[in-house]
Amino acid sequence: MTGGRLGGLEIRQLGPADDIEAEVDLRRRSFGPLGAGHRTAWVASAEASIAKGQAIGAFDGSRLVASARYVPMRQWWLGRSVPMAAVVSVKVAPEERGRGVGSAMISDLLGRIAAAGYPVSVLYPTTGPVYRSAGWEFAGGKYEVVLPAAALAALVAPGPDQTGGTELRRATPADAEAVIGVKGRVHAELRHCGPNTRDPGSPSLRHWLADEDEFGYLADDGFLSYRWAHGTSELDVRELTAGSAATTRAFWQILASHAALAERVRACVGPDDAIGWLTREPVSELRCRYRWMLRIVDAPAAVAGRGYPAAARVLVPLDITDVALPGNGGRWTLEVSGGEGRLNRPGEGPDPDGPAVRLEARGLAALYAGTPMGTLRLTGLASGGSPAADAELDCAFGARAFQLDYY
Ligand SMILES: CC(C)(COP(=O)(O)OP(=O)(O)OC[C@H]1O[C@@H](n2cnc3c(N)ncnc32)[C@H](O)[C@@H]1OP(=O)(O)O)[C@@H](O)C(=O)NCCC(=O)NCCS
Repeated sequence: MTGGRLGGLEIRQLGPADDIEAEVDLRRRSFGPLGAGHRTAWVASAEASIAKGQAIGAFDGSRLVASARYVPMRQWWLGRSVPMAAVVSVKVAPEERGRGVGSAMISDLLGRIAAAGYPVSVLYPTTGPVYRSAGWEFAGGKYEVVLPAAALAALVAPGPDQTGGTELRRATPADAEAVIGVKGRVHAELRHCGPNTRDPGSPSLRHWLADEDEFGYLADDGFLSYRWAHGTSELDVRELTAGSAATTRAFWQILASHAALAERVRACVGPDDAIGWLTREPVSELRCRYRWMLRIVDAPAAVAGRGYPAAARVLVPLDITDVALPGNGGRWTLEVSGGEGRLNRPGEGPDPDGPAVRLEARGLAALYAGTPMGTLRLTGLASGGSPAADAELDCAFGARAFQLDYY
């Protein structure tokens, strides 16, 4: 169900006739000041969502009291990408909070995301309950590594077959599509679980590449973007994605070249990034900066759309309960083999043995993102099934999911 009323409030799609300044005011009151540079990018992104019918607002008469939107992206899961709706900018006017407006908006937005055909949805939460009650669950992290810049001057020696170089060039605002292409190729080849790529038309990516204080480099198999921070005492690496040993070393060398001024490098990378193995001494500190949540919106499409380990073989009955999206619910058989997965209704494929694993929407999301079955059982997110089924599911999904992008 989308659209509707909540205690006198009307929830509806935002349109070009709605006052963008009311949206900016709500943004400021909810998330703090918007600097002049950031305002242009933020308004462009909000207007793009509104133009595409991907933004909603809650109105008290003509007064905007809450709003939220989603942004189309792709999310990479073990070699393949799945269309993903990133939920952003969820905000309720301070005086209207705590009476169900946020929950009503999220439930409305979820209905729209499902109707638009997205298999999965991701968001960075500031609070869990609003999203958990609609079926999102913690799934992965956005990690950062902090290193002394001096430690980058001499990395461990390259391997014997790592003799090639790499060709780098500065990235420009015209490179949005090239950046998305390179990132997608690296995520696919390295079989990353969780990272997103933006839509080629994304205004925020164009603004990112146009920022004169952000220094971007592109290789055929990598993208580096960084800026000075805390004066010049730190380098803040917004992204370092590299698909070969040569590009990895070239990017870290660029950062190392600043060691005379910069004391530290703070870099957004995956939790198993090569840099953890490339410094001579154990100087890199990894931490999870933010946690993100996943919602499986269309379970059969999400299962069929992602990749799996070639060796994984699964034939497990699942009992799924999904109150908000009942089409995902009921009895399924999860079948995974040869790197492909599918959800079959009873009678559609081979018959599985044993009792069904019981999952609600949140458990399904956490499992999909690689949370071990043991953890799901300890937290009440999974029940039923058998130890043999757990072993098969862990083999198919197990991962440390991450994202590099914050939205
Ligand atoms: C987060 C926000 C959207 C919630 O809106 P809301 O209308 O107050 O939420 P609801 O009244 O629908 O509350 C739904 C549930 O979330 C809980 N909740 C809401 N805000 C919470 C918070 N900040 N911390 C902890 N729990 C919170 C409520 O207690 C309620 O729980 P219940 O179902 O167990 O009773 C709103 O507080 C807000 O705009 N905050 C500032 C901006 C922000 O952080 N946005 C979220 C970005 S991810």
